[in-house]
Amino acid sequence: MSFSILGTGKAVPQFVLTNDDLSKMVDTNDEWIRTRTGIRERRICKEETITDLCVSAAEEAMKDANITANELDLIICATFRGEFITPSEASLIQKRIGASCPAFDINGACSGFIFALDVALGYFARKTVKKVLVIGADNLSNVTDWNDRSTCVLFGDGSGAVVLGEGEGLKSIHLTLKGDSDVLYVPRGKNTSPMYEHESENPVVHMQGSEVYKFAVIAMIKGIRKALKDAGLTEEDVAWVVPHQANIRIINAAIEKLNIHPEKFFCNLDKYGNTSAGSVPIALDEANKAGKFKSGDIIVLCAFGAGLTTGSAVIRWE
Ligand code: COA
Repeated sequence: MSFSILGTGKAVPQFVLTNDDLSKMVDTNDEWIRTRTGIRERRICKEETITDLCVSAAEEAMKDANITANELDLIICATFRGEFITPSEASLIQKRIGASCPAFDINGACSGFIFALDVALGYFARKTVKKVLVIGADNLSNVTDWNDRSTCVLFGDGSGAVVLGEGEGLKSIHLTLKGDSDVLYVPRGKNTSPMYEHESENPVVHMQGSEVYKFAVIAMIKGIRKALKDAGLTEEDVAWVVPHQANIRIINAAIEKLNIHPEKFFCNLDKYGNTSAGSVPIALDEANKAGKFKSGDIIVLCAFGAGLTTGSAVIRWE
């Protein structure tokens, strides 16, 4: 037993931070950011908490799926920056939406949403669930060094959600981990113990941009090919690719090697930047609500992130 996507939702903060706004904060400009990344603006939490966004995305997905919170058997939230260290972000969402099922977080960084789909698949395979809410969300503005122009222009906040039900929509899913904590990481911050002997680093994004870039292009190409092969499909069968929205140049570099038309790649990173675990489900929801998907369409999801993780999945839209 696999699953199908019954509904999608998303929520982003109200506040829009443009490239011109950023050029007043650090030594950068709209032209540099647009040509190097494709990003024009991003949404940043001011009044909203990340939980507010998760709850809105979840409620929209449940409405789209025509189900109520008490029908949920499980909630999984993919995030590395929920509101608290503990309890989990998923438990805050469970309470706010009025569900009573188990709920937990997983951390697959920017690939987290696809990691969470894979975890959900295990529950469906064991036939212990009928409806699962999967949310991807991160609050990257809270771990951004706003004085570092090489990273602060890349990220935004947001949340996307899907409701999964029993079905055969998921055709394959593939995760990888390189085991790297040097090229992209966020340290936890100061240890509170007076006995602890290690130095603490600033709890913000540390990134070797060009290393991540090279990894990301290969990750997209290999991930898409592997997930399609496992599903018994080819690049010609693909109706849509919903990639992690990190940088349009990464996506375009992957497109050059793949036999999938560029117009089949759904991109919204110009509006939101990289929202980490929120990225793929936000894009999935926007494409869905824009009426892009037809029943029977083969959709490929792919992502990469700290760890270094990758995730790719093939879904038949039903
Ligand atoms: N505005 C203006 N100049 C900037 C800048 C900014 N926001 N950020 C960096 N620069 C400068 C650099 O200081 C460098 O200057 P120098 O040549 O005088 O040293 C120059 O621009 C070129 O920097 P470089 O790092 O070579 O740029 P790039 O073309 O590799 O693009 C990234 C940088 C970060 C956009 C790119 O490496 C990238 O997207 N990497 C992947 C990041 C990512 O997706 N992370 C999350 C993965 S989940």
